[in-house]
Amino acid sequence: MILVTGATGHVGGELVRRLAAAGEPVRAMTRRPAGARLPAGVEAVYGDADDPASLEAAFAGASGAFLMSAQPVGAAPGPTHDLALARAAAEAGVRRVVKLSVLDAGAGTDVIARWHAEAEAAVTGASRDWAWTLLRPGRFMSNALQWAGQIRAGDEVAVPFAERPAASIDPADLAEIAALALTTDEHAGATYELSGPRSLTPVGELSVLGEVLGRDLHAKALPPAAARAGMERYGFPPEVVDAIMRRTLESDRGAEVLPTAEKILGRPARTFTQWARAHADAFARAVGVAGETPT
Ligand SMILES: NC(=O)c1ccc[n+]([C@@H]2O[C@H](COP(=O)([O-])OP(=O)(O)OC[C@H]3O[C@@H](n4cnc5c(N)ncnc54)[C@H](OP(=O)(O)O)[C@@H]3O)[C@@H](O)[C@H]2O)c1
Repeated sequence: MILVTGATGHVGGELVRRLAAAGEPVRAMTRRPAGARLPAGVEAVYGDADDPASLEAAFAGASGAFLMSAQPVGAAPGPTHDLALARAAAEAGVRRVVKLSVLDAGAGTDVIARWHAEAEAAVTGASRDWAWTLLRPGRFMSNALQWAGQIRAGDEVAVPFAERPAASIDPADLAEIAALALTTDEHAGATYELSGPRSLTPVGELSVLGEVLGRDLHAKALPPAAARAGMERYGFPPEVVDAIMRRTLESDRGAEVLPTAEKILGRPARTFTQWARAHADAFARAVGVAGETPT
């Protein structure tokens, strides 16, 4: 049985659907199992990385595990969620582990690098006798869902870092790669740096979304100071905000189109247009809502 953490998220949700469709026994971990919408036959289990005691039951009997942490960098002195998940997997005797990490995890010396290096080491450390695979993607296409509220309300979308390009990746491709690594032996010990097939700025992604939705969407670029203020309001510690600003404004690494996903999948990675078509409903204006005119 494969235990999927983050099973209600973008990558984990796709992974659960993919594994279930392939007939693999899957257990989906969530903090709200009663409300989880899962494919038939998938078991929902309560698990909270802030409540390590819950993880023992969640991982019991698993032979494979997909590990992701939603804990923001700097929210604790270290990646306590990653450490707790890896410990639970080890105690359950899991044989294959796929960890969702981030592009350039561990590269450099800033707070983000130190955090991810420790999180990855929890999975790859010498004491682990499982087959591990690390996925290191850059920006997710699903980040565009952050614009959904603004797009439902109007055509102008306030966007930070509007001209910084990234070769964003479809979480569905990550899930497909994770499924391969959890069900075959071919990806043991591999660290995959992953991107989508094309580099686009947020302005470019917005323009693709506009085409797909048949809308004249345009960006209102927010100055870097507004992006910084937003992160501070969100509660990111100052050193984390500094690191994000530096990485976003000074590095072009995330804009690189990497060949890895296509090589592993044996087909081109999904484009942002494909992602936008598949998720168009999330941006659609509600019909018949007070103040809106049904068309
Ligand atoms: N977005 C990007 O551009 C990007 C780029 C590179 C890497 N990443 C990495 O990708 C991951 C995010 O993946 P995603 O987009 O698939 O996630 P997501 O859609 O944001 O979903 C977050 C998941 O985390 C679970 N979760 C939240 N708090 C939890 C807790 N205390 N204990 C256990 N589970 C918890 C949620 O489950 P419930 O609410 O159901 O419990 C949910 O399934 C992060 O690790 C991030 O660093 C993201």
